Amino acid sequence: MSWEESTKQKMLHLQLPTDPRWVNIAEMNIGDILVDHAYCEQKAASSCISLIVKFHDLQELVDTLTPVVAEEWNHFERVMEQIRKRGLEFDKPRKDEYVVKLSEFVKKGGSRSQQLVEYLLMNALIEARSCERFKLLSKHIQDEELQKFYYELMVSEAGHYVNFIELARKYHDKEKVNARWQEWLAYEAEVIKNLEIRGDRMH
Ligand SMILES: [Fe+2]
Ligand SMILES: [Fe+2]
Repeated sequence: MSWEESTKQKMLHLQLPTDPRWVNIAEMNIGDILVDHAYCEQKAASSCISLIVKFHDLQELVDTLTPVVAEEWNHFERVMEQIRKRGLEFDKPRKDEYVVKLSEFVKKGGSRSQQLVEYLLMNALIEARSCERFKLLSKHIQDEELQKFYYELMVSEAGHYVNFIELARKYHDKEKVNARWQEWLAYEAEVIKNLEIRGDRMH
């Protein structure tokens, strides 16, 4: 199976595709999208660092996520490069309603490994949705440099998605993880359905 096919299958786990109007609105507001995107990369790096600190005793988690931090920070640098070369302002962060809504679904309490699974699945979902959006941007916007850039990021975030899912299945009962993953997918589809389509948000 080609990489494209396998990623397509992985992305199909998302239960609701992005509204096709989003990519056109995003293209018209690419400056805002780039700023929001830079913060998404910063949050992705920060989130991995938090997991490494909190679960420092889980060797495979630490060893898997350490290079992911470097990759996310490289993405941040590359988005900043696009912002600078276009003479855009690196504005303050926007409220991330998508992530706020997802956070509300994180189950409180439970065992440490249950908590870990919640964080890992939430991160996996954000990667999957980002991957889907990067694919739309890479396919539909006119700017050839950005097309290539978003394609590369789509590949990278697909890899992170797999990292998070596999870690969840390693550190907790696989069947339980799969069942919880289905709940997360259904919830995320509801979140996406109810979020306003905006040209200044990646999600
Ligand atoms: Fe990234
Ligand atoms: Fe990522």
